[in-house]
Amino acid sequence: MSQDHLIIFDTTLRDGEQSPGASMTREEKVRIARQLERMRVDVIEAGFPAASNGDFESVKAVADAIRDSTVCGLARALERDIQRAGEALRGARSARIHTFIATSAIHMEKKLRMTPDQVIEQAVKAVKWARQYTDNVEFSPEDAGRSDPDFLCRVLEAVIDAGAATLNIPDTVGYSLPGQFGELIRNLRNRIPNADRAVFSVHCHNDLGLAVANSLSAVLNGARQVECTVNGLGERAGNAALEEIVMAVRTRQDVFGCETRIDATQIVPASRLVSGITGFTVQPNKAIVGANAFAHESGIHQDGVLKHRETYEIMRAEDVGWSANKMVLGKHSGRNAFRTRLTDLGIELDSEEALNAAFARFKELADKKHDIFDEDLHALVSDEAAANTPELFKLVSLKVCSETGEIPSARVVIAENGQEKNGSAEGSGPVDAAFRALESIVNSGAELQLYSVNNITTGTDAQGEVTVRLSRGGRIVNGQGADTDIVAASAKAYLHALNKLHSKLERAHPQV
Ligand code: KIV
Ligand code: ZN
Repeated sequence: MSQDHLIIFDTTLRDGEQSPGASMTREEKVRIARQLERMRVDVIEAGFPAASNGDFESVKAVADAIRDSTVCGLARALERDIQRAGEALRGARSARIHTFIATSAIHMEKKLRMTPDQVIEQAVKAVKWARQYTDNVEFSPEDAGRSDPDFLCRVLEAVIDAGAATLNIPDTVGYSLPGQFGELIRNLRNRIPNADRAVFSVHCHNDLGLAVANSLSAVLNGARQVECTVNGLGERAGNAALEEIVMAVRTRQDVFGCETRIDATQIVPASRLVSGITGFTVQPNKAIVGANAFAHESGIHQDGVLKHRETYEIMRAEDVGWSANKMVLGKHSGRNAFRTRLTDLGIELDSEEALNAAFARFKELADKKHDIFDEDLHALVSDEAAANTPELFKLVSLKVCSETGEIPSARVVIAENGQEKNGSAEGSGPVDAAFRALESIVNSGAELQLYSVNNITTGTDAQGEVTVRLSRGGRIVNGQGADTDIVAASAKAYLHALNKLHSKLERAHPQV
């Protein structure tokens, strides 16, 4: 890899999925992975295969589907984890195993209960186990941002000798400051005798809002891989946002002197896909991908931009994919056009019946909505996938009455394991009434933590995409539903979340 190439390592499917409620199905992960591949991400961290059978299958599905990006699996420094990662990645054209162990005094003493020497020994063993599956091994000293730099030098020198090709320096708890973090990277590169045999990478968390600044400071000090996520999704306050890293390095090439191979026009479609699937909406003023990122409100600014764009714009909206929201299909589009567009979007339905069912839904939607955009197709396929998972609860019908001065009421029919059940309730508004009516049937005991509605595209005929976050017994899930009728979308989202709560998904967290 040349010195001026900056490797973009996306961990939306792994660290991103560690955001509470952001869990994704295998099909959704493959869809996101295809979009990342289309965006020309170098490495896709597809998950933590040892977490559960479901996670294993998801990593395997991504490894089997992706051809132009390296697919990576995370593993603790344990033989079984590494074996699971190796097996899950067997079908990948290019595979990487990412193994890690904590190196800060607090983590070694309180979490691992291991001495520093034991940690070095385990790290070396882990890298050697991983090398039995692939030459492409990455090692992370977890909580490096709070680790003793002398100890870091010892661990890293040992793992390079054991065969690690990438050394990833995580600021696990988002504690570092840009100047200090950049200096850490520079010192490690200068002090470790065999440092030239490895690529230095960084993985920064955003607890102080500094993940992107810390990552860029590391790049200025010789890091040549940045781990990041679409929309900055990730554990707690998230990870460094991919779109900000890529566009900072591109826009300020004069300072960074390195380049990524990212196709930036795929950034906005990727952002929308990830936010649609996870239900984590993007704030309007978010850099690059927020709805207002290229909107000029003040008259002076508008005037300036009209006279000469660069007076107030350092990037062009179309360069990051804002114009990619093109109208694609409509009422008169046929099955072939529908299939072709899905293929272009990287959406593969696994059977002719699935395609027929999706096409029937598309026709229903096209009757209600004139222009069908790419985002509508993604929402439609997500809805279709949700409807096809072996569900406990399915929405059969919904009737809502809402009139000024009257108490809103709702009547619902759902199928529970195929058996129809009715419920009705009043509420403070039509959505509240619909949720109460559903609860009158299911009595879930779940607590509603978040309810949000987003229009998928513009216009009053746009589909509303609703996210419902429920929690029960410490478990948090997000459900999504899309419909041109937002009360129906809300009921679908509520049932989707309930179905997730009922699924017996037990997974281990890699860092706990
Ligand atoms: O934040 C972190 O330290 C991680 C490691 C597993 C790389 O996510
Ligand atoms: Zn992390």
